[in-house]
Amino acid sequence: MTPPTSGEGNAARRNLDDFTRRAGQFNREVKEKEAAQFERAVRESGFGPGHTAVDMGIGTGNAALPFLKAGGRVIGVELTPAMAQKGAKRLAREGFTRRTLHTIAAAERAPIGGGAADAAVCRNVFHHFEDPRAVFAEMARTVRPGGHVFVIDFYDPEDEAEREILNRCEFLRVPSHVRTLALSEFRVMYESAGFRLFEPMTCASRTRFADWMKGTTQSSGDYARILADMEGLRDAGGGWWSVECEGDEMHFTRKRVILAGRKD
Ligand SMILES: C[S@@+](CC[C@H](N)C(=O)[O-])C[C@H]1O[C@@H](n2cnc3c(N)ncnc32)[C@H](O)[C@@H]1O
Repeated sequence: MTPPTSGEGNAARRNLDDFTRRAGQFNREVKEKEAAQFERAVRESGFGPGHTAVDMGIGTGNAALPFLKAGGRVIGVELTPAMAQKGAKRLAREGFTRRTLHTIAAAERAPIGGGAADAAVCRNVFHHFEDPRAVFAEMARTVRPGGHVFVIDFYDPEDEAEREILNRCEFLRVPSHVRTLALSEFRVMYESAGFRLFEPMTCASRTRFADWMKGTTQSSGDYARILADMEGLRDAGGGWWSVECEGDEMHFTRKRVILAGRKD
């Protein structure tokens, strides 16, 4: 199997199917370093009581929490009802029911008025979009002048050949994966939309290969291909993901970026 290049409709269908099937598996909290970096970015943007943030692909609400903790409201835009339900339950448990609203919709066409929000955020979803620029444009549209757009996602190397290998592994592992962007592509999105981009913050998460493969949908052929690619990266010195063996176990590190920009 090779990653499809078909239209947005197909990516949305794959996302809906994949996240409906895997909704039960999403219980991970945000790691400490990323949580602290993002909370600081939200605080520094001036977001607070009386403000509204739009969370594109809200899922279990990880990116919504800092805005709620800062005293604001969150409108979650979510394609997958099972994920929205899970997120709504989690945010209710944390005591935020009255300041959250979920809408079942595609981030590419958010049912939110232009300039209605003080901030927009999208965490860990850009690599699932067929057209990330269209989603960024939607985020930029929903935010008022002076408001902020935050994107948090994995990022891959500028080198196309290595990126192709990494994206192939990701797609064979879960069919809702489309393409992880390079940092330069995120920068262009902000800058061409006329945003003032602040210094990107980065963090990394170390993952055990066996854990990463648990509960995914790949066939045995796909598994063998992913394993061969990962071993190839390891043998070539680890590559962008620093693939290496610790005893019998293969580990690797994915890099994540937190971007914040202001709409002038
Ligand atoms: C990996 S989860 C991330 C959830 C959450 N943002 C977080 O950081 O934990 C991706 C979420 O994006 C949703 N999603 C995927 N494509 C979408 C789209 N086109 N529009 C809205 N939501 C989408 C999925 O249903 C899923 O809930």
